[in-house]
Amino acid sequence: MTRQVAIVGAGPAGLLLGHLLRAAGVDCVIVERASADYVLGRIRAGVLETCTTDLMHKLGIDARMNAEGLIEAGFNLADGERLIRIDITALTGRHVTVYGQTELTRDLMEAAPERGLEIIYEAGDVALHDLEGDAPYLTYTKDGAVQRIDAQFIAGCDGFHGPSRKAIPSGAVREFERVYPFGWLGILADVPPCHPELIYSNGPRGFALASMRSATRSRYYIQVPLTERLEDWPEERLWDELALRFDPISERGVTRGPALEMSIAPLRSYVFETMRHGRLFLAGDAAHIVPPTGAKGLNLASSDVIYLSDALIGFFRDGNESALVGYEARALSRIWKAERFSWFLTKLMHRFPEDGPFEHRMQIAELDYVASSQAMQTAIAENYVGLPL
Ligand code: FAD
Ligand code: DHB
Repeated sequence: MTRQVAIVGAGPAGLLLGHLLRAAGVDCVIVERASADYVLGRIRAGVLETCTTDLMHKLGIDARMNAEGLIEAGFNLADGERLIRIDITALTGRHVTVYGQTELTRDLMEAAPERGLEIIYEAGDVALHDLEGDAPYLTYTKDGAVQRIDAQFIAGCDGFHGPSRKAIPSGAVREFERVYPFGWLGILADVPPCHPELIYSNGPRGFALASMRSATRSRYYIQVPLTERLEDWPEERLWDELALRFDPISERGVTRGPALEMSIAPLRSYVFETMRHGRLFLAGDAAHIVPPTGAKGLNLASSDVIYLSDALIGFFRDGNESALVGYEARALSRIWKAERFSWFLTKLMHRFPEDGPFEHRMQIAELDYVASSQAMQTAIAENYVGLPL
């Protein structure tokens, strides 16, 4: 099979890129290791910036998001006792949308056939070849047979553990990494949210986040040590913990219900510099990871894909490599600012095992400053809604 662009990975980055390229008449295919159901079973992002919702509008794959997405005009930081509301609409004139990654992914997957976007699921042993020449190709196994896709370009949208980043020789790159000494234990349940807007709380029992998917579906997270296992957290233990953290500060208190999903995600900041090697371009979590505090990961995948689709469409329109040159610099400029914000909010809102009472007082003083300073609230709000493209 020969295509103009072969995309590795059918997460948000790969699906959005595939749709944008198809809408411009570029011939592309997506190769995904997992099944569609497996991809849809991963519960991840919940908060979308306008860079992501605008992309869905532009693609015209927005009917369900328009109907079901929750427009959020503000969110809250809490020091365990009081809520500090960040009025993002008053401070920035903008908003964020609560619409789950699962739903966005489902919309993009379902729209693929009618738009001629081919997705090959359950492709094993995906490998990238001849990236430095002008005839790169992918190989993979499907139904026991080795398949090959020749392409002019390969887009590595295969997340943090995929093969694309690893195909770049180590001499050509720089890596920047901070691994945090805790993870987030998440629960999804069909119960009404405890509060009308999100609450990120740094209380005496550690970090917790109260989020939602709809008026009847809640998503909560708490900070847990990396040594903790899911088996250590029967549902009732988690609900008890959430009630201790949110009952005193939320409008309605925590409603309990059977878990639809529970999982533990580690926290990491990571940037891989270079996002281009020959005919391979990286986008999304394949090139960078942010800790989830601040809700930036999927939204950064969207901005990468906006820049990358511009570059590739420019190349196919003019046949000129110069369109491709600016991709990495444009993407990295926005990535590093989102890395900074996610790191700042992670440090402000979590209990670090190595920290003592002094560091904790610094967090409390900083939250107190946020509560009293419109300038500080504006800085937080403009990062939370997403910096300009
Ligand atoms: P992925 O979603 O990881 O997709 C990569 C795809 O590549 C996957 O489908 C994978 O199966 C596939 N793949 C991997 N290996 C191979 C292979 N060998 N061959 C073929 N395919 C392969 N972000 C936000 O913006 N807002 C939030 O509120 C938010 N909350 C989060 C909460 C949690 C708990 C977590 C864990 C993440 C959160 N994120 C959030 C981050 C967001 O989920 C990710 O940044 C986003 O999924 C990145 O999309 P991606 O397409 O780059 O990578
Ligand atoms: C959700 C996840 C986040 O990382 C975040 O910052 C806000 C909300 C969520 O899953 O709802």
